[in-house]
Amino acid sequence: MAQPLRLTIDVEVLTEADLTPAEAATWQAARAATDHAYAPYSHFHVGTALLLDDGTLFRGTNQENAAFPSGLCAERTALFGLAATQPERRIVGMAVAARPASGDFVSVTSCGACRQVMAEYEHRQHQPIPLLLPGPNGSIYRFGRLSDLLPFGFTADDLPKQRVPEV
Ligand code: THU
Repeated sequence: MAQPLRLTIDVEVLTEADLTPAEAATWQAARAATDHAYAPYSHFHVGTALLLDDGTLFRGTNQENAAFPSGLCAERTALFGLAATQPERRIVGMAVAARPASGDFVSVTSCGACRQVMAEYEHRQHQPIPLLLPGPNGSIYRFGRLSDLLPFGFTADDLPKQRVPEV
């Protein structure tokens, strides 16, 4: 008989009062970043903050384009921006926030393409990156690692070894 494989993901459901000071700063930075979203087409402002190992925060926002597919999500502008400018930095936390152009914050989750990129940078630094996402009714979801969002994800480990570049 076929054996089922059951995966479980632990997600903590929190309020702001439960966050550590560093997490609260990351959470607030993601929210503040939504002010700098460029979203003239969707009017959906997304912000991301990356907490770095020296305590600094690196932000990203969604950047849209008249040629729609040329735009990019907040998660990827943050991760690509950091990797392009400070690749030696270790990421120790990440938060995402979203709101309509004029309106209150809403729950959001990362798209599939962002999940793939998030898993890549976590894999690259060989260390889990905890993630805060806004859940329903003002709750905060805390994931222990970015790759929790992408079960069965494809990583460098799935490539033939001789083709995996040195990082
Ligand atoms: N978006 C993000 O930036 N991150 C997400 O997690 C979901 C979607 C952006 C892409 C686009 O600019 C807008 O939100 C509407 O899809």
